[in-house]
Amino acid sequence: MTSAGRIFSGVQPTGNLHLGNYLGAIKNWVELQTDFDCIYCVVDLHAITVPQEPVNLRRSIREVTACLIASGIDPSRSVLFNQSRVPQHAELAWVFNCVARLGWLNRMTQFKEKAGMNKENATVGLYAYPTLMAADILCYKATHVPVGEDQKQHLELTRDIALAFNSMFDVDFFPQPEPQIQKTASRVMSLRDGTSKMSKSDTSDATRINLTDSVDDIAQKIKRAKTDPEALPSEAEGLADRPEARNLVRIFSGLSGRTESHILAEFGGQGFGVFKPALAELVVDVISPISQKMNQLLAEPDEIDKLLASGAEQAYAITGPVLEDVKKIIGLTPP
Ligand code: AMP
Ligand code: TRP
Repeated sequence: MTSAGRIFSGVQPTGNLHLGNYLGAIKNWVELQTDFDCIYCVVDLHAITVPQEPVNLRRSIREVTACLIASGIDPSRSVLFNQSRVPQHAELAWVFNCVARLGWLNRMTQFKEKAGMNKENATVGLYAYPTLMAADILCYKATHVPVGEDQKQHLELTRDIALAFNSMFDVDFFPQPEPQIQKTASRVMSLRDGTSKMSKSDTSDATRINLTDSVDDIAQKIKRAKTDPEALPSEAEGLADRPEARNLVRIFSGLSGRTESHILAEFGGQGFGVFKPALAELVVDVISPISQKMNQLLAEPDEIDKLLASGAEQAYAITGPVLEDVKKIIGLTPP
């Protein structure tokens, strides 16, 4: 197989995945399997940078894994595992903690957002989150990293760490991974507010479509989605000041593969009373097979654990030798 490069990406096992995660990340991950060697990681060590209930964490690791497989990540084609099973991630993160500077981490906006007002009470792990992320990517010498806009700064730090390591030890060891930033256009917004992102942390479940929602839930949520009283425009420009309408049309486009213009050529001039049921049907067509497959997989948790163990073995076959080289370069082991 000819490969266009090596992809690494990660997703946290916290809460249910929703339509935003699917259209913004997972669908792309599935498509990338055609041209790239892909490594997809359930980043459980990142999850524990904020407090987690052990029971929930254990369940979420399996749920996210099942969801990825149900969405089309094929464990026989791609490497799929959870981070904590492959010790080289944490090991390389420590090395990077000794390469990255306080000043670099102090600039990270995600830490500032997540730590909030009470920084003194944030964990050291939350602060060092970006060096672990750099280790995730670089212990595979990944060349391409698909992420959302919010992770761009962490990717830039990863590149800085790779450069700093190479120059500190006068080697050409780590590559400069290329970010593949998900475009804002593919961002799915809340069903209740077209200006804020669909998010698992929103307190209202009516704002999002979870990949595990029943057919009835989906139909209800779309029926109740916020809209305006106007009919749909017949051209995409007409959506400019109508965030809720635009969001629904974009979801339609993301799920059907049709352009916004094509969709508006069909629905332009008609009200949401016509568009919403068509959208609900489309969402159900895409989501239902995923949630059914997910439930089948989750009925046999031991099988999921076996898949993760086998993914971890494949991952280790790559990271083991990389860490041996790193130790030689640093002087921890003989050359
Ligand atoms: P999160 O759920 O925030 O941990 O994000 C996991 C992945 O899903 C990241 O790649 C995000 O960029 C993507 N993602 C999360 N929410 C949305 C959304 N509303 N629209 C598009 N992509 C999203
Ligand atoms: N920080 C990423 C997020 O919250 C998840 C992540 C961890 C990741 N390690 C990664 C993404 C390495 C890409 C590459 O979305």
